[in-house]
Amino acid sequence: MTPASQKATNVTWQEGLISREDRYQILRQKGATIWFTGLSGSGKSTIAIALERALFRQGKLSYRLDGDNVRLGINKNLGFSEADRRENIRRIGEVAKLFGDAGTISLSAFISPYAADRDEVRRLHEDADLRFVEVFVDCPLSEAERRDPKGLYKRARAGEIRNFTGIDDPYEAPTNPEIHLRTDRLTVEEEVSAIIGYLERHGIIESGLPDEWPSPAERGPAAGDAG
Ligand code: ADX
Repeated sequence: MTPASQKATNVTWQEGLISREDRYQILRQKGATIWFTGLSGSGKSTIAIALERALFRQGKLSYRLDGDNVRLGINKNLGFSEADRRENIRRIGEVAKLFGDAGTISLSAFISPYAADRDEVRRLHEDADLRFVEVFVDCPLSEAERRDPKGLYKRARAGEIRNFTGIDDPYEAPTNPEIHLRTDRLTVEEEVSAIIGYLERHGIIESGLPDEWPSPAERGPAAGDAG
């Protein structure tokens, strides 16, 4: 039956000739979604950027889906009302699922303040037999506000920005995340190691470096293929 939220009728999923397993094989990895959630300024993007590099060095293809970037593109028609935040997360959940099906490890960094929306994305992945790893980027509001990298908390406190998460809009912390990081107590390196360790222990990536990594480009021009 078509769910009420589905407007298009008479549409069916079309299978191609290349399977997900085929894609996984050429990439030599499995797709998965690492879903960061936390307050603005908690460290989601910083960790995702560092993790992307660490995975790259292990020869793993990942791709960051980041709040501010995505809101400049696919979600530029969305604001910060509850309905828009929910639609923001729903769309990113679907995009992350596509990336996972394509064989990429997506690193999704959105506040994603509502537990029900995150659970919905988790269910979407589980139904599609894709791994979903929720990472709670846990930072006390006082510390996020002290960091205030974009000066937005200051503006929210001054009443210049309304519905700012943690100030006059809710954040529902995860109760059972796969990974819980206290970013006011850990270094970025420790956080990345904790995530990589989890991914290895749970068979999402294999441990150890493949022989050919880091790539010539990463090794620098002296060791690379000149000319
Ligand atoms: S979410 O709530 O819909 O998941 P998202 O992660 O996409 O949020 O965007 C959050 C980013 O938008 C923040 O890091 C901040 O830079 C900016 N922003 C602008 N207005 C707000 C607001 N009212 N609440 C939270 N973040 C905001």
